[in-house]
Amino acid sequence: MCGIVGYVGLKEKKEILLDGLKELEYRGYDSAGIAVIENKKLSNFKAVGKLENLALKTKNYLSSGFGVAIGHTRWATHGKPTELNAHPHLGEKSFVVHNGIIENYQELKRKLQGSGVTFVSQTDTETIVHLFEYYQKQNMQPFEAFEKTVDELEGAYATLLISEVEPDTIFFAKNGSPMLVGFDDKDIYFASSDTPIIGKAKEVYYLNDGEYGYAKDGNIKLYDKNGEKTFTKQPLSKDKFTAQKDGYRFFMEKEIYEQSRVMSETMMGRINGNSIHFEELDQEFLNGIDSIKICACGTSYHSALASSYLFERLARIPCVVEIASEFRYKEPLLDKNTLFITISQSGETADTLEALKMAKRAGLKSLSICNVDNSSIVRESDKTILTRAGIEKGVASTKAFATQTMVLWMLSIYMAIHRKTISQDVLTGEINAMIHTPKALLVNDELHTKIHRLSKRYLHGHGFFFIGRDIFYPLALEGALKLKEISYLHAEGYPAGEMKHGPIALADSHLFTVALMPRTMHYEKIKSNVEELSARDATILAISPMPFDLADDFIQTRYDSHPMLEFFEMMVITQILALEISIRLGNDVDMPRNLAKSVTVE
Ligand code: G6P
Repeated sequence: MCGIVGYVGLKEKKEILLDGLKELEYRGYDSAGIAVIENKKLSNFKAVGKLENLALKTKNYLSSGFGVAIGHTRWATHGKPTELNAHPHLGEKSFVVHNGIIENYQELKRKLQGSGVTFVSQTDTETIVHLFEYYQKQNMQPFEAFEKTVDELEGAYATLLISEVEPDTIFFAKNGSPMLVGFDDKDIYFASSDTPIIGKAKEVYYLNDGEYGYAKDGNIKLYDKNGEKTFTKQPLSKDKFTAQKDGYRFFMEKEIYEQSRVMSETMMGRINGNSIHFEELDQEFLNGIDSIKICACGTSYHSALASSYLFERLARIPCVVEIASEFRYKEPLLDKNTLFITISQSGETADTLEALKMAKRAGLKSLSICNVDNSSIVRESDKTILTRAGIEKGVASTKAFATQTMVLWMLSIYMAIHRKTISQDVLTGEINAMIHTPKALLVNDELHTKIHRLSKRYLHGHGFFFIGRDIFYPLALEGALKLKEISYLHAEGYPAGEMKHGPIALADSHLFTVALMPRTMHYEKIKSNVEELSARDATILAISPMPFDLADDFIQTRYDSHPMLEFFEMMVITQILALEISIRLGNDVDMPRNLAKSVTVE
């Protein structure tokens, strides 16, 4: 994910920018750049790939004396990772860096092109700098031009702009993407999270959505839609590790909360009106494909299993899912008309990689769905769709699962369109639900507090069953896996309709059942399954939009207009439940015993 650093002051600026960007490396990026104005002169450097490449390019550049500087690490979204698309973006006299998405950039771009502006990149960001210069040329003062620019931007952004027309100033604006300002005497720093400025700034102000302004003469002027405002600085943490967690207790918690935002990144550029577009794929790649086989491990296997329902239901294509370590040794029969999909957060899981190699040897077309570009699985696959979740640090996977599931959902629609198996009405409903997914993933305080309170009931007992039907069965498997990974309590995911064929023998008041009871997917059927358990005195935690009298505990969901919205909202609830139980038990949430984030052994 992209990162921003900025500085106004007397210190050597290149080092401040490169050091700061280095601290943001963990977020993932594929190009980087810096721009400095000193003695009214602009300098700019960009490089594709790692920061070392940028450091090499700036080897002979030093900037001592007063100046302003901005830097950026870019994770490609609109346009490929090239130098032209890397930030900072140049107008005639100004540079801009930006995180987020300018949703109305095409409209703004057309307007600017109509007035003679030439664009050199494929990014949405470049619009900001041209819009600023467009207004500035209409005799507006630089800040007035910036204010007018910000007013026209729609979407999420954190942006910094510098210009030769006001060479001692950084203009800033924030809406939906994080940004903060650091202070140390006369030095002013900007960054998209606090790690780049720890050890440099003493105090900090975390900008709120809708705030903008400028930094000059050792201070900032801050505005929002109601005009100029005052603000209170706070002391800056000195602990980098804590800072990377952005105030959350654990990386896993942070990553659960991030899901709503990263999901927008996963979808960005891929939902095109009433259609799905993957620049990574072409329809020719799918010609001749008449079935799908998916291989994965762990959490990735669960997203695969959920998608098999979607591929068959929406794209009417047979889809079989296999655990990679089982697939490798079963002497599988492979058909050249089968599309072989691997799913992996890390792209390095040994069993998944070997399964992929086997399929390739058998002549199958391969597609990977992965979070890490250039990983072994990505390099080995014919095609890849990146999930864009940003780096996941918690060993127990959360946002990687959510984004994998989203990509697979989009892919099932993409194939349904290709195979002409979806009506316009259904398509509109699916796309509409996708667009609303970030909302269903938002965690509110009330929900988190409620789960925290009820989690105290679930710290012992002789086991958990997570039950669901259809796509909620893989979600039940994933909910149980999350819980056992970080709480070390025994938990199983089970198809609700299958409980009566064995597991119901375990039912008593010490058996905890987490029942996923969506309104839009076989509600009456799962209700009967849960009633059977309740009749045998099992303790029931029901998660549903519909009140359920027999539940011992009940968490009411809100987004019940589409099964996938129910899926994602319930997913968040099961993640927080696992988190809160693990915290109460005093476990190391981010590094659970015996587990590794990337399993590169068989
Ligand atoms: C390990 C991790 C799991 C992950 C699995 C597959 O077991 O602890 O969280 O789901 O590997 O990893 P992958 O990177 O291939 O998705």
